[in-house]
Amino acid sequence: MEITGKTKIMFVLADPIDHVRASAVMNAYFGSIGDDLAVSPIHVMPGDLGHVVASIRLMRNVFGFGVTIPHKTCVIEHLDEITPTAQLIGAVNFVKRTAEGRLVGDNLDARGFIASLAQHDIAVRDRKVLQVGAGGAGRATAFGLAEAGARELTIMNRDDQKARALAAAVAAHYPATKVSAGRAEPRAFDLIVNTTSLGMKVDDPLPLDIEGVGPGATVSDIIVNPAVTQLLARAAAQGAKAIGGQPMLDAQMALVARFIAR
Ligand code: ATR
Repeated sequence: MEITGKTKIMFVLADPIDHVRASAVMNAYFGSIGDDLAVSPIHVMPGDLGHVVASIRLMRNVFGFGVTIPHKTCVIEHLDEITPTAQLIGAVNFVKRTAEGRLVGDNLDARGFIASLAQHDIAVRDRKVLQVGAGGAGRATAFGLAEAGARELTIMNRDDQKARALAAAVAAHYPATKVSAGRAEPRAFDLIVNTTSLGMKVDDPLPLDIEGVGPGATVSDIIVNPAVTQLLARAAAQGAKAIGGQPMLDAQMALVARFIAR
């Protein structure tokens, strides 16, 4: 890759930085479509976020930046505008820098997640979905699943209070989806989605017991690394369809390209 004065520059802001994969995925994607764009991860401590964002605003060859843990919510106060989707989810994962230096935040997690399911022929419309986790990523997937027409959405989380708050927020915006919070029997669902961080480490327990979940059901785990979590390995062994987090990241690339186009 040759980076010159004509190259469009982007960043990915994170802390810690070691786990960041989005920059490599973006560089590969933009390279593959012949776009002269280069992305670098930058390690930004939470206390420095405002200064870094204010500096990026002044960098005229920067077209935008990705935002990941722990900046997805805190970045909002430093932006000029966020999209209604980002507002609903309460988090931003991509920021566009306009030619005038305005910073506009969006959240592409929900649309990326739903697009990745569609690309793998996994239907959401009229299906019963069980989601584990109600953190930042879980908020995006829950709104995405309701938007995509899930008939039922049950949200299960260690902190039940958070699951109930998310269920109420989703139900308020998507009355056609029957949304609830609490424990449920996984075998009664068409699609099971893990949005917790359980599965990133080899010695993590399973985020839920999927006994009885087999052919006809799909298990999705949005963890990118490892590509096959224990949960996905178990699902595949039981005959269920298994899909990891990489497709969700891949599906966001076309959305990023469209979002930052000037
Ligand atoms: P992210 O932005 O990646 O979603 P997050 O907002 O910190 O990160 O959310 C992490 C999710 O993983 C939450 O649903 C969290 O459950 P709590 O809301 O109860 O904290 C879940 N999680 C993390 N560690 C967990 C553990 N050891 N057991 C069960 N759930 C866990």
